[in-house]
Amino acid sequence: MAWRTPTWVGTWQSIQTLLDRKQQEPATQPIQVEPRVLGNTDVDAADGQTLQPFREAFDGPFIAAGGFKPDTAAETVGTHAADLVAFGRWFLSNPDLVRRIKLGAPLTKYNRATFYTQDPVVGFTDYPFLTEEEVQELEKKAEAAA
Ligand SMILES: Cc1cc2nc3c(=O)[nH]c(=O)nc-3n(C[C@H](O)[C@H](O)[C@H](O)COP(=O)(O)O)c2cc1C
Repeated sequence: MAWRTPTWVGTWQSIQTLLDRKQQEPATQPIQVEPRVLGNTDVDAADGQTLQPFREAFDGPFIAAGGFKPDTAAETVGTHAADLVAFGRWFLSNPDLVRRIKLGAPLTKYNRATFYTQDPVVGFTDYPFLTEEEVQELEKKAEAAA
C-alpha cells in the first residue's frame, strides 16, 4: 500500500503507535512516497519535502518511493536514508527493470497518457523487455569495462 502523505509526522506517528499496540509488534511499514509530481509534471523534491522525519520516527524497515531513478535509489539506500526503494512508473514501463539496472541498460520512458485508461494491455503490459541479443551486447560491454 502506498500512502500519499505530506509531512504530517505527528499524525503518522499516532497511527503507527495504535497499530503497534494492536499487533504487539512493529506494524508493517507502508511505502512512504515523496511528492515529486506536480499535476502531470515530474519535479524534483522541494527543500524540506523529505521522508527523513518518518525514517527517524520509525524503527523498522523503511521503504521509500516517489520519483526515484536507479542512481538516486542507490544513493538513498547507500546513505541509509531508506532500507529499500520502490519504483512505480519506471517498473510499469520496464517490466525487466531489475535486469536493466544490473546491466546499466537504458530505461523505456513511461507514457503518462496511458496511466489511467480502462485498457488492460495498452500502457500496462505492452512495454518491451530487453531482447536476448541486447542482453548479450550489454553483458559484453560490462565485461569489457571491468
Ligand atoms: C498507473 C498508476 C496507478 C497508480 N495507482 C495508485 C493507487 O491506486 N494508489 C496509490 O496509492 N498510488 C498509486 N499510484 C502511485 C504509485 O503508487 C507511486 O506512488 C507513484 O507512482 C510514485 O512512485 P514512482 O515515482 O516510482 O512512480 C499509481 C501510479 C501509477 C503510475
